[in-house]
Amino acid sequence: ARLVVLVSGSGTNLQALLDACADPAFGATVVAVGADRTDIEGLRRAEKVGIPTFVCRVGDHATRSDWDAALTAAVAAHEPDLVVSAGFMKILGATFLDRFAGRCVNTHPALLPAFPGAHGVRDALAYGVRVTGCTVHLVDAGVDTGPIVAQAAVDVLDDDDEDSLHERIKTVERGLLVEIVGRMAREGFVLDGRRVRFGTAAS
Ligand code: GRF
Repeated sequence: ARLVVLVSGSGTNLQALLDACADPAFGATVVAVGADRTDIEGLRRAEKVGIPTFVCRVGDHATRSDWDAALTAAVAAHEPDLVVSAGFMKILGATFLDRFAGRCVNTHPALLPAFPGAHGVRDALAYGVRVTGCTVHLVDAGVDTGPIVAQAAVDVLDDDDEDSLHERIKTVERGLLVEIVGRMAREGFVLDGRRVRFGTAAS
């Protein structure tokens, strides 16, 4: 399966996917990496292994919908089977979803529906939860509201701050993302209401 991965930062989830794709048995290859900003480690990780990259900055477009259309075209140019939003910090709009909804997953560092949005780790810590975690879900028009594919729990430690907790979540998150993307690539999946079931309906 052809993957396009969208990043906005350090790209450790991307790196886990790149490492997994090195094994042909994984069943997927990263064909391009896109970002909403330049000069981030996530892009450098792709460049280092010769994977094409593109940047679509909101500020370069007259309107948000123009940006959404440009991002959609940039992703579509690589003919992905699956788009993976891995730390991509923009809400994907209507044009993108018309084209890729149903085959775009996002990873979020909290146990959705709890703590959606850009500060899920900070919000969970502030709330005082004893267990948080990460979620891989299909992207829909909402903010982290799409059908949940998989989740993993991570304990909150008494001396955690946002960074220590997020780092611990990320060690679990990258493994979950690799597992789920690999299964989607090898087994296919169908959406049954809000449940994602692996294997193709035909089989
Ligand atoms: C991940 O925890 C992702 O869920 C969140 O930000 C982090 C991105 O990390 N949105 P990286 O860029 O993959 O290292």
